[in-house]
Amino acid sequence: KKATITIDRLRIIATIDNRIYGSFIEHLGRAVYDGIYEPTHPMADEDGFRKDVIQLVKKLNVPIIRYPGGNFVSGYNWEDGVGPRSERPTKLDLAWFTRENNEIGLHEFSKWLKKVDSEMMMAVNLGTRGADEARNLVEYCNHPGGSYWSDLRKSHGVLEPYAIKTWCLGNEMDGPWQIGHKTAVEYGRLANEAGKVMRWTDPQIELVACGSSNIDMPTFAEWEATVLDLSYDQVDYLSLHNYYGNPTDDTPSYLAKGIEMDEFIKSVVAICDYVKAKKRSKKKINLSFDEWNVWYHSREADQFNERWQFAPHLLEDIYTFEDALLVGGLLITLIKNADRVHMACLAQLVNVIAPVMTKTGGKAWCQTIFYPFLHASLHGRGVALQVNVDSPKYDCTQFTDVPVLDAVAVWNEEDKTATLFVLNRSLEEDLDLSCDFRSLKASGVLEHIVLEHADLKAVNSVENPDNVVPVQSRGASLAGGRLSCVVKRATWNVIRVS
Ligand code: AHR
Repeated sequence: KKATITIDRLRIIATIDNRIYGSFIEHLGRAVYDGIYEPTHPMADEDGFRKDVIQLVKKLNVPIIRYPGGNFVSGYNWEDGVGPRSERPTKLDLAWFTRENNEIGLHEFSKWLKKVDSEMMMAVNLGTRGADEARNLVEYCNHPGGSYWSDLRKSHGVLEPYAIKTWCLGNEMDGPWQIGHKTAVEYGRLANEAGKVMRWTDPQIELVACGSSNIDMPTFAEWEATVLDLSYDQVDYLSLHNYYGNPTDDTPSYLAKGIEMDEFIKSVVAICDYVKAKKRSKKKINLSFDEWNVWYHSREADQFNERWQFAPHLLEDIYTFEDALLVGGLLITLIKNADRVHMACLAQLVNVIAPVMTKTGGKAWCQTIFYPFLHASLHGRGVALQVNVDSPKYDCTQFTDVPVLDAVAVWNEEDKTATLFVLNRSLEEDLDLSCDFRSLKASGVLEHIVLEHADLKAVNSVENPDNVVPVQSRGASLAGGRLSCVVKRATWNVIRVS
């Protein structure tokens, strides 16, 4: 079978905000302790951070990392994590029913962020706390000095302000599982008031309000409209969260979940613009898809966890090859929506539903999903271009008319390269792809990277870390501005031309 793609240099979606390649570290399970931080590990650096993990995270080139939660933040007192370590309290974390000893807090995490060349997306607790603690945290982090909280930071050894730009106003406040769960009216008012005093403390910051925890929440849409109605002038972004899974082993439907993500994004954009119109506002609210990933493999195991453990194994999904295909498809969807999605966080980064895994005391390795994320983060920077895809279609249990081939292109003006990200969702058919690159004046193929495996359920592990890894394909050719290659069945492809 055949598929064709036409790219027009002038059909620009948007310049991609690199923050769509963000990620997330929560105080949850072994993400922080025994993940990024393991002072007794042979690879630990002078601060107790694992150098092997730093190396893998750096490879991913993640521009922004959300911290410290997640559900965790809704019961967190940030003051517990600053100041002399010997005086920091051990507390019960009611989000995950574990113990938190606060050995890692804001300063230690900031140090780690420097080591991995990333920035913080800071979340404040609007579950058990409110506007006062949130504005104190902004003052502590971002005010130069001469006030109680900024001088306290200085007394803790950090003289220069952190200048943290992006702040999340709580986490999943629509969810009954959230510590301090709120109605849309309660949260909308609180987001407005907290946002107001945080911004008065530092006018340079950007604020993200909580949207729905996922598209299936019964309050979805009404929640977004009410929250924005009550906080429009104070917020810059609205968040989206969604996790995907294949619990019924229906791979054709699973690989089409990018369609669901696209509909979710389009619906939230519509709500933002509805409130904009209603308010006759000139301000546009953009989106922060600050939790997305595959999450389902570990759910059953986690139900039996003993309470109040320290850094237990939680949410340790082991990802299959088909999960990596879906993650590739979701990245294509995020890039296609780069005009409104300005931030996104692959949730999470280390050990907890993560591309990077560690064995406590042992090695670190890359899960299957590491690779599509790596490719998008490295080559998906520049201008997102609309592509015209003509491909066979299929029907499955959850969708009809699913294009077998999903694709998006990114033009990098600096090095005059174009990258085509392509997912072949078919489990049976290879496709002969012809792609018209004439408008980009492309004359040669730089590389065609393929992630493929005979077994959809193949995984990487500490014993076999290179079971699913990308390979270079040799068959692609470009003549007269037209590319031809074979896009094998069930593959993720990165085709780069210049
Ligand atoms: O990422 C894991 C959890 O998923 C987060 O803590 C929460 O925000 C979401 O429900």
